[in-house]
Amino acid sequence: MQLKSASITTVSGYVPEDILTNAELEKLVETSDEWIQTRTGIKERRVLKGEGRGTSVMATEVLRQLCEKRGISPLELDGVIIATVTPDYFFPSTANLVCHNLGATNAFSFDMAAACSGFVYALETGANFIRTGGAQKIAVIGADKMTSIVDYTDRNTCILFGDAAAGVLLEPGEEGYGLIDSILRSDGVGKDLIYLHGGGSVNPPTQETIEKGMHYFYQDGKSVFKYAVTNMADVAAEIMERNKLKGEDVAWLVPHQANKRIIDATANRMGVSTDKVTLNIDRYGNTTAATIPLCLWEWENKFKRGDNIILAAFGGGFTWGSAYIKWGYNTPSGSDNQVV
Ligand code: UT7
Repeated sequence: MQLKSASITTVSGYVPEDILTNAELEKLVETSDEWIQTRTGIKERRVLKGEGRGTSVMATEVLRQLCEKRGISPLELDGVIIATVTPDYFFPSTANLVCHNLGATNAFSFDMAAACSGFVYALETGANFIRTGGAQKIAVIGADKMTSIVDYTDRNTCILFGDAAAGVLLEPGEEGYGLIDSILRSDGVGKDLIYLHGGGSVNPPTQETIEKGMHYFYQDGKSVFKYAVTNMADVAAEIMERNKLKGEDVAWLVPHQANKRIIDATANRMGVSTDKVTLNIDRYGNTTAATIPLCLWEWENKFKRGDNIILAAFGGGFTWGSAYIKWGYNTPSGSDNQVV
């Protein structure tokens, strides 16, 4: 079978308007703006407020924008994949809800849970539907409302996360362009280092699980850092090597935004200079599955047709991965995806 190439044809993003600054966190836990900025690079993050508003609110906005920008009806979508670890519910999936909100009634839809690597996993999955000819239009979205699982009395974790959603539309494209290669990895050794233990089938919610705070995100930051720094850099270097790319051939590194120090180490290992690295952790913090597409969205108008773009992610599981994209289009001048 002759495989088609899968190209990103448009990008969109959404961040909630409410901002949580380091100064505000100083009032909640014993921390400082100086500590947060030097250890993580984060200055502020966004919070989705309002009762009954979950991840689907942000993902719906992203899918609406994807369709509008591309000038298509939601009815033309063949599939919608949402990478998230903070779905609205266990089921129906957030992707089901988002399709329903927009009337995308011809699309299959499901969620993928690969934590911070979720978007890279979902991108490769979505691209395979296009490559085989089974689909013409697949939306791949990373969306997380991390503030719904953060304990705002735990200074180790509450300073890290924010809420956001962003995504891409995949369509058959020109040969040699689009998603060229991916490497996806996992290792369950991370199960004791980064987790949320309450609410699932092992610990269904009870008064006791709530009292123990088991519905909150937990991370052994120092240990996760060591795995993240090594694995994210290794996998990015591996994808460069197998595609015969040198540092100077890479137009942009688009890394998961968990910690500026991890990003710097990855860029250094790849031989990519810092001006070629997309960085918005200062404004949004770690938005889990949304960080990479949020960068693609904010940098879309700087990308040029033919640019070699490397994505690199590491997250809970552990999961990690890298993708190599040959960018397929120039954004018309005057268009701007800056967040207001
Ligand atoms: O997103 C996917 C996967 N996640 C990651 O990739 C995250 C990886 N880990 C990290 O980014 C870093 O480990 C953190 C940013 C989470 C923490 O930075 P760190 O440099 O590893 O700090 P640490 O956890 O080793 O803590 C150092 C000190 C400790 O005090 P002592 O024991 O040295 O007295 C902490 O109690 O800093 C203390 N500390 C804080 N101090 C002020 C921890 N959190 C804070 C805080 N403000 N918010």
